[in-house]
Amino acid sequence: MIATAIAHPNIAFIKYWGNRDARLRLPLTGSFSMTLAGLETRTRVQFDADFPVDRFALNGEEQQNESLARVSGFLDRVRELAGISLFARVESGNNFPTGAGVASSASAFAALALAASSAAGLEMTEPALSALARRGSGSACRSVPGGFAEWLPGSSDADSYAVQVAPPEYWDLVDLIVILHSGHKAIGSTEGHALAGTSPLNALRVAGAPERLIECRQALLGRDFERLARVVEADSHWMHAVMRTSSPPLFYWTPDTETVLWHVLTWRKQGRALCATVDAGPNVHVITTGAEKDWAEARLRALPGVLDVLTAKPGGGAKIVRI
Ligand code: DP6
Repeated sequence: MIATAIAHPNIAFIKYWGNRDARLRLPLTGSFSMTLAGLETRTRVQFDADFPVDRFALNGEEQQNESLARVSGFLDRVRELAGISLFARVESGNNFPTGAGVASSASAFAALALAASSAAGLEMTEPALSALARRGSGSACRSVPGGFAEWLPGSSDADSYAVQVAPPEYWDLVDLIVILHSGHKAIGSTEGHALAGTSPLNALRVAGAPERLIECRQALLGRDFERLARVVEADSHWMHAVMRTSSPPLFYWTPDTETVLWHVLTWRKQGRALCATVDAGPNVHVITTGAEKDWAEARLRALPGVLDVLTAKPGGGAKIVRI
């Protein structure tokens, strides 16, 4: 009972922030993302009658406490679905920095959902697999289908999952991930989601999300960069406005984050196809087109505080691999 799967992280164009059911990870709003090729999590799961407990190693390091508990809790859900009671050994590795504003929990739980369900003998449809991944980390449901994906908030555990809106090759967008800080973030997303409801701006953000989702979907399907840029930036700012006005407030940006955002906006005003979005960390995801990539990357690398720029094109969905 062994399986190995890979999955890519994703960058949200329309963000997931806040749950209406935190245990089931049923979100307050729908969200929309691009899966990121090149960055990947590879996870191997083995269930075995001889294992006395679940074990989890990440990038070769044996995990304990919350990290192990989160994986083990997720495996409980897989065991429940498969009707088995075996413990598992999970070995997972990322080829990109963990916890650095590249949502590693998305690729982690998408890969884990696929590897664990296959190892347990479950044959799942893509929506069921996406809903399962969501239970581990909300954004993980969007890393199951690949390409450009929309998470339909749904009304229950079974119908809250992501679907592909367009395949990876639909539009040659590029995410230039501007790394300003590569350590772990101070407040993780799970804790942050729980604070969303304390912001007086939360209700406004939630009320406007359906319209922004339609706008984003239409901009993507029409390959209209300027339209996409406006809604992607607006949605990111809405989320950070909620974060900053929560109790306690959450500030993820550094002065260097602000500098990158300012330059991206300025270059767009000068006619360049660029926009920026920021997750729960200081790093900036600059969305651009294949044609603008080299120009933009060279300029971003010259800005203060920029440690590195990772490049990601739209990627495929979670998949089983042989080794
Ligand atoms: C800011 O999916 O990481 O990246 O469900 O608690 O694991 P958990 O949260 P997570 O939240 C992602 C938040 C975000 C926006 C997004 O990706 O939509």
